[in-house]
Amino acid sequence: TKRIGILTGGGDCPGLNAVIRGVVKASLVRGWEVIGIEDGFDGFLHPQKCRALGLEDVSGILPQGGTILGTSNRGNPFRYPILRQGKVELVDVSDEVVSVISALGLDGLIVVGGDGTLKIALELMNRGVPIVGVPKTIDNDLLETDVTFGYNTACEVATEALDRLHSTAQSHHRVMVLEVMGRYAGWIALESGIAGGADVILVPEIPYDIEKVSSAIVARSKRGKRFSVVIVAEGAYPKGGNRVVKEAAGGKVAVERLGGIGEMVSRELGGYLETDIRATVLGHLQRGGSPSMFDRCLGSRFGVKAVELIQEGSFGRMVALRGRRIESAWIGDAVRHLNLIDPEGEMVRHAEELGIILGR
Ligand code: F6P
Repeated sequence: TKRIGILTGGGDCPGLNAVIRGVVKASLVRGWEVIGIEDGFDGFLHPQKCRALGLEDVSGILPQGGTILGTSNRGNPFRYPILRQGKVELVDVSDEVVSVISALGLDGLIVVGGDGTLKIALELMNRGVPIVGVPKTIDNDLLETDVTFGYNTACEVATEALDRLHSTAQSHHRVMVLEVMGRYAGWIALESGIAGGADVILVPEIPYDIEKVSSAIVARSKRGKRFSVVIVAEGAYPKGGNRVVKEAAGGKVAVERLGGIGEMVSRELGGYLETDIRATVLGHLQRGGSPSMFDRCLGSRFGVKAVELIQEGSFGRMVALRGRRIESAWIGDAVRHLNLIDPEGEMVRHAEELGIILGR
């Protein structure tokens, strides 16, 4: 018999509860014990946040959004914020975390997280903690897995938003700009944009030229289409824009600023168009709420596979979707760099062949 731990770290996303439920069910079937750690790695620093999970704890959670274990915004044990004399200092508390993990007698720790959380997991792995990873991000920016859970639900929400914006855009002969998540990777904007029939898709991987965007909208109105719908990822930025470079997964990825890009694009377009323009920020509606069928199934299977990896002793690995199979990959390979859109890749080409403007 084994005793394993599970935690969810970083931003939440639909399907986390499916993973937790899958882990608990597959473990109990094996006669193992599961300890749920609340609020990400932060939970190890508070003994009351480490509790046994039974079937009753996971009953009915499959369709629920969020994570029953909670997550944390200050969960990095290597840079843990502590208030000292009115100032926040980042302190390395990893020794304490490692000793709590060994005192708990965990035979394996399942870490469900995105790029940041999995990198922390790797560091703990190097300190001897037996880790298995489960990839989580609505942005779909992790390598080694075809897709992460949560992404499909986020795209469903964004696609529905585009549908709703279309009808009001058409009635009012307006340009509607929808800002979606995607700090470094524009997958949500790209795929939802294709699915929702957007006229323009702006992503961080392809700096946009506002003149190209506005002239496409003008050309559309000359063809009798007096409305347009634009989807823009929050990390998108104009060509030659003033970029803040952020460290991301080993590589440097540029982001101009977070939040406000939808407004900015609207303002810029206003300089070229006579049409009314309105911006909508979809924000955390993409992260909350019930997971789609796809994400429930993927999350559940990821949970079971994580337990199987612990049983095999395959530590340092992350569950991964390959085609229709759940396989595994080295966590280190998955966080080598972010999984970004290839501007010359097939998906972008298909979008352009559909007549969608990417602003280049
Ligand atoms: O990391 C995933 C993500 O969806 C990013 O695209 C976005 O910038 C971020 O979450 C926002 O999260 P929060 O408001 O929780 O910091």
